[in-house]
Amino acid sequence: MDFTMDMSKFYAGRSLFLTGVTGFMGKVLLEKILRSCPDVSKIYVLIRPKKSLLPHERLASIFDSPLFAKVIKENANCKDKVISVSGDVLQPHMGISEEDNSHIQEDVSIVFHCAASVRFQEPFRDAIESNVRSVDRVIELSKKMRKFEVLVHLSTAFAYCYRKHIEEKFYPINVNPKDLLNCSRWMSTEMMEKLAPSLLGDHPNTYTYTKSVAENLLLHHGIEHRTVIVRPSIVTSSWKEPMAGWCDSMNGPVGLVITFGKGLLRTMLGKRSAAANFVPVDVPINLMLAGAWKNVTQRNYESEPTIYNCTNPDSNRFLWGDLSDLLAYNAKLLPLDKPARIPLYGSSISPNRLRNKLEWIFCHWIPAYTVDGILRIARKRPKFVRWYKKINSMCDCLNYFTVRSWKWENNNKQELQKIMSDKDKKTFYFDTSTLDWNKYIEDYHMGVKRYILHEKMDELPNTRKWIQRRQTISKILKGLLLFLILYSLLQYDFVSQSNILIACLFLFVHSAISYWMDPGQQPISKLR
Ligand SMILES: NC(=O)c1ccc[n+]([C@@H]2O[C@H](COP(=O)([O-])OP(=O)(O)OC[C@H]3O[C@@H](n4cnc5c(N)ncnc54)[C@H](OP(=O)(O)O)[C@@H]3O)[C@@H](O)[C@H]2O)c1
Repeated sequence: MDFTMDMSKFYAGRSLFLTGVTGFMGKVLLEKILRSCPDVSKIYVLIRPKKSLLPHERLASIFDSPLFAKVIKENANCKDKVISVSGDVLQPHMGISEEDNSHIQEDVSIVFHCAASVRFQEPFRDAIESNVRSVDRVIELSKKMRKFEVLVHLSTAFAYCYRKHIEEKFYPINVNPKDLLNCSRWMSTEMMEKLAPSLLGDHPNTYTYTKSVAENLLLHHGIEHRTVIVRPSIVTSSWKEPMAGWCDSMNGPVGLVITFGKGLLRTMLGKRSAAANFVPVDVPINLMLAGAWKNVTQRNYESEPTIYNCTNPDSNRFLWGDLSDLLAYNAKLLPLDKPARIPLYGSSISPNRLRNKLEWIFCHWIPAYTVDGILRIARKRPKFVRWYKKINSMCDCLNYFTVRSWKWENNNKQELQKIMSDKDKKTFYFDTSTLDWNKYIEDYHMGVKRYILHEKMDELPNTRKWIQRRQTISKILKGLLLFLILYSLLQYDFVSQSNILIACLFLFVHSAISYWMDPGQQPISKLR
């Protein structure tokens, strides 16, 4: 084995098996392999049929994504290397046909497992099946591969988030992963739900718990040293490649960017000084490819699976306070089309739960119920309360992560960086110490605008005008309201019913006017 071999040469002639390519990270992985490892032999991608689309149709629609425009332009034939395999990780043997299975077992040497359920509050059994059983099945398949070299598994930096200091090592868990899989097989859903609180312990949700169980399954029942685990923190849009700002997932902070930019989110529970450990999606993807390369070319037969914490170095920390300021800055500079309310151009984050609750009542619930009431009277479909319920559950999921800080060790990542050639360091970059957060969050905001909301830049002047008009109306109404209150006080007549009634009427009109009444295409319905 040539240890100095370039990574793209290493992948030349090898066949790979990928799961989760219809998802956010899997797509980026597939694109990166096609672009930077063009001589790869074949890439088998496991895709389940969904919404009446067959796997090969879903694969075709992936290639239509702007993400693949560059690689297809450079090499239109690259698609031919990708073979869709119909399957579902929830089915025995992943539901792969015998014919496909024999091709994969004969041909594939490297496996990348990205498929999972990333819903934080997934019912316990579903989370176990998607995040633990799937790993068991991938191990089973890998063991049958004639040329098997390495299995790369995507975990999360929050798998042991009840710890403050997280090294690149396994931590013991409170259950034998195989026992848990057995329970999930025979227990009823209700029994599993009853069992969940005692097993979850200090875990905030079923997602982080099942990710920690999956890691321990790989440690005790996996393929030992021929395993690489990459643990990214909060994965956000691409940093550099194939374009800055690409994202297509509504998970995680995208919801914040949209709801803040659309003027809906006006307060957030979080510590300004806590690190928002965002990691651009191209970073863990490059780390996965580099991790597999190192595992195969520089194998240490004694060791356990290698773990890479994929988080930002302390030297380039990004804080929740920075995010809150930058969201406000970008909402003003590059407003999203058709905002539901005039976006807030100031910081919106506070660690005080009482303040957050009060702000939710006064800035979210009261206006939402008021405007939905008006919509009902106007015989239109109410929507704001529904949206705020979704935003509320999104914030509930994020709150655990916005008020805490963690310290992750990154020694394995640094060691890996050291042994890579200069060329590979450039092609398969994962060092974020030079990332410019101001520019990155602007690109992220633009990526959400372009690739998720499908908004066009030529709408910007209209949106700016719309916001300015609403701001002027809002200022006039606020001025009138203030005048009315002062006048009432000066008249010593504040309790007079008529003045209070007029003040309430103004409040009512004011909150109604600060909303966009057109049902429009608000993407809140997509929030999980
Ligand atoms: N995004 C993050 O912030 C983040 C952070 C840390 C770690 N991770 C890890 O990274 C991995 C990928 O995350 P992501 O953000 O790309 O998630 P995602 O966008 O939700 O994608 C999940 C992928 O898994 C597939 N999948 C789910 N259940 C399946 C099943 N039963 N059979 C076949 N395929 C199935 C989905 O296919 P369908 O399209 O058919 O549903 C989809 O392709 C996960 O392991 C996650 O834990 C993500």
